[in-house]
Amino acid sequence: MQTESEAAQFPDLGRIVVIIPTYNERENVERITARVRAALPEVDVLIADDNSPDGTGALADRMAARDPHVRVMHRLGKEGLGAAYLAGFQWALENGYDVIVEMDADGSHQPEQLHRLLAALRNADLVLGSRWVDGGEVVNWPRSRELLSRGGSLYTRIALGVPIRDVTGGYRAFRASTLRTIDLHSVASAGYVFQVDLANRALKSGLRVVEVPITFEERELGDSKMDNRIVREALWRVTVWGVGERAERYRQWREAHRRRRGTGW
Ligand code: GDD
Ligand code: MN
Repeated sequence: MQTESEAAQFPDLGRIVVIIPTYNERENVERITARVRAALPEVDVLIADDNSPDGTGALADRMAARDPHVRVMHRLGKEGLGAAYLAGFQWALENGYDVIVEMDADGSHQPEQLHRLLAALRNADLVLGSRWVDGGEVVNWPRSRELLSRGGSLYTRIALGVPIRDVTGGYRAFRASTLRTIDLHSVASAGYVFQVDLANRALKSGLRVVEVPITFEERELGDSKMDNRIVREALWRVTVWGVGERAERYRQWREAHRRRRGTGW
């Protein structure tokens, strides 16, 4: 009998690429790629490596030599997750992909759940894998990290007024048209706040953004690249965007008020 994921195929969605950003993921990159290829043999994988000192890039090259579905982008140095994804998106758009997926290398995102995101993309422009909706879960996360993530999502929801439970997550599927609608050239977010930035832009552009439940498992091998700088960037950017949006709404409201008075209402 086939499992749910083996039975799932998505010819109607066109060409699909999974972008996996890597920085020192030597212990993880082969396993995650093999899992993606097994779960959905028709998709391609792009590994976007920031010249990892541990040799992840060279290992990825050897994988690409064996499998034409695997491609490698070598970047000059560690510039952050957001920068690696922006370069990967550009490559995917130039190479004619219709669907672009974001996935961590460390096994936190289950390739076996990718079919959930893709099925939902049939009626959406952006699908977010979500830990904080019904059916979503986190396995093996330290309490401190869970609080940071839940707190960050809550703060962002309030500051930006976005109706999304898990707005910082990194397991996502975009239609190519979504990436073209969002002005990628003006995205300056370098760290993990990049995820918030893109979801916010999609929502504010009136695109259909939906969440599907995922199981997020903390990595077993290698180290997280999360640090204080990444948290600080997220905090200040979200605050600046939130204040900016409120100021803009106030300006529009005042404008409308003035116009009504002017026409004798
Ligand atoms: N190329 C590149 N450059 N890759 C990077 C960089 C970078 O500067 N920083 C991190 N990565 C890669 C890692 O190698 C991994 O594949 C993935 O990005 C996620 O990095 P982790 O360090 O494992 O992230 P995390 O588990 O702390 O955070 C995850 O959850 C966050 C929300 O809680 C990620 O999915 C984040 O995107 C997400 O915001
Ligand atoms: Mn991780």
